[in-house]
Amino acid sequence: MKEVISLQDIKKSYYLGKQELPVLKGINLIINSNEYVALMGPSGSGKSTLMNIIGCLDTTTSGTYILNGKDVSRMEDDELADVRNIEIGFVFQQFNLLPRLTAWENVAMPLIYAGTGKKEREERARAMLDKVGLGDRAHHKPNELSGGQSQRVAIARALINNPSIILADEPTGNLDTKTSVEIMDIFSQIHAQGNTVVLVTHEEDIANYTHRVVRIRDGVVETDTRRPKGNVQTNETTIA
Ligand SMILES: Nc1ncnc2c1ncn2[C@@H]1O[C@H](COP(=O)(O)OP(=O)(O)O)[C@@H](O)[C@H]1O
Ligand SMILES: [Mg+2]
Repeated sequence: MKEVISLQDIKKSYYLGKQELPVLKGINLIINSNEYVALMGPSGSGKSTLMNIIGCLDTTTSGTYILNGKDVSRMEDDELADVRNIEIGFVFQQFNLLPRLTAWENVAMPLIYAGTGKKEREERARAMLDKVGLGDRAHHKPNELSGGQSQRVAIARALINNPSIILADEPTGNLDTKTSVEIMDIFSQIHAQGNTVVLVTHEEDIANYTHRVVRIRDGVVETDTRRPKGNVQTNETTIA
């Protein structure tokens, strides 16, 4: 088993003036290649803080984070941005699409930073939109898309650089149940293609799609449960 994410005694505090707010108080967690993990815990327990650290969007106060064999906990911001572009696809609850750009332009955005030419950007973005079932919405702006369609665009954007790790912070938090099921089916496919998938959710139904549930409370890992693959929930309604 290849370790892709190794968190060792991760601590994170926020500072409000001189007052310290300790949020993560020593997180130890190893996630192997191709695991499918749900991160759960009460509101305010530090799930997003931890996901942002895992996704190299934020740095730790102390502790060691080894990502795919590289110690990213000592990296500067620009180095971290490079690692993030190559290794990580991030999906947010609020979709975080750029409102003035079309669906394909949003999906293609990470390729601009990767230095890909315009023609290839458009081709790859369109192919990725096809994959998430949105090929016919390439020229729509975010305000012309439903929540579920917007999240598909965001997933396509997260996948465009072929990252091995997909992180999603409450990806179904703004979606109705039916749409949530469709989105979880996409994550399950991404996992089935060999990716490592970590998502935050507070819904047991959503966590049931994954193979491992890590619960955090009071800044540490409270429980860490793997379940046999046979027990994983599958959705029978969307098999084509
Ligand atoms: N940028 C920040 N500055 C100060 N406090 C923050 C910041 N981000 C989060 N917090 C605080 O850290 C705690 C954990 O937040 P968060 O990681 O968002 O929790 P969760 O995602 O589990 O709801 C909360 O008390 C929150 O108010
Ligand atoms: Mg959160």
